[in-house]
Amino acid sequence: MNVADFGDRYRERIWETHIAEDFERDIVAGFAATRKSIPSKYLYDALGSALFEAIVLLPEYDLPRRESELLERYVREIVERTQGRLRLLELGSGSSQKTRTLIEAAIERYGAVEYTAVDISLDAVRNAAVQLLDRYPDVSVRALVGDYFQVLGEVTPQPSTLALCLGSNLGNYPGERGVEFLRAVRGAIAPSDMLLLGVDLRKDRALMERAYNDAIGVTAAFSKNVLARVNRDLGAEIDIGNFEHSSVFDERTGSIESYLVAIRAASYSLGGARKAVRFAVGERIHIESSHKFTRDELRVLADECGFVERGFFTDEEAAFALVLLERGENATKKL
Ligand code: AVJ
Repeated sequence: MNVADFGDRYRERIWETHIAEDFERDIVAGFAATRKSIPSKYLYDALGSALFEAIVLLPEYDLPRRESELLERYVREIVERTQGRLRLLELGSGSSQKTRTLIEAAIERYGAVEYTAVDISLDAVRNAAVQLLDRYPDVSVRALVGDYFQVLGEVTPQPSTLALCLGSNLGNYPGERGVEFLRAVRGAIAPSDMLLLGVDLRKDRALMERAYNDAIGVTAAFSKNVLARVNRDLGAEIDIGNFEHSSVFDERTGSIESYLVAIRAASYSLGGARKAVRFAVGERIHIESSHKFTRDELRVLADECGFVERGFFTDEEAAFALVLLERGENATKKL
């Protein structure tokens, strides 16, 4: 479905494509499983995206600040390593706030930039696009709204692309899913094009856990909002007050695992004729994995997915990293 209601002012500079989700099917399947789960992409409805923008301002959640500092410091070096007119393809663009650093550097270097924003949140992408179009006359925006995997399958590689996956978004795809994700990105860019990853690194457990258990409960609200969305969109009757947010670092997965935990045993209608969902005391719904990477792990991952490391930029504490990868010529292993 193509939507073009941006008005005369923007019409020439924006294209939007929207791929629909199967929310109902995914929620029902996630609740029917032995270990209950909700796909993390559903955290980002209009309110969820707004709450995430608040998370970014929390002192405990320092990933965005560290990443912005690295971007400011190394943006010129990164843009220098790309050739020709630059196209940016961002996976999980959200508010596109940090992307401005790259857009400005690209305009300075090449005069104009084509920016493709891929995000699950239509509201976030629309707001971001309009702000960018107002601010930069030399930018054109293509907005692709939907699941990364579905959207990437529809992207035709354009030469001189710098793909971006910032904010440790890659961390939402732990293990094999990360391999699948990077291979999908590889398929959407041309040989010798590049991918810039912003990744949170493995560090002291208390520091990692603090980032997801903030003192004023913004992250808890962000998590619980997904239940509000289930109630609203399915007509379910889940008592949100019966759930607690919990984020813990799991040594086994190397990720912060976030859950909603049932305080009391209960059974809730999922709306309509759907089967009710039952919870035991302390039963958890898994809602998100936020993987924390080691440098070695990133090297292996890049290699497995057909990328070659061209730059690794980190802060003094080695808390966060920007990793610049080049798409290799050869087919990936074990495809
Ligand atoms: C935007 C998915 C990278 O996992 O760190 C922040 C989302 N969740 N606090 C992350 C998030 C709770 C964030 N990502």
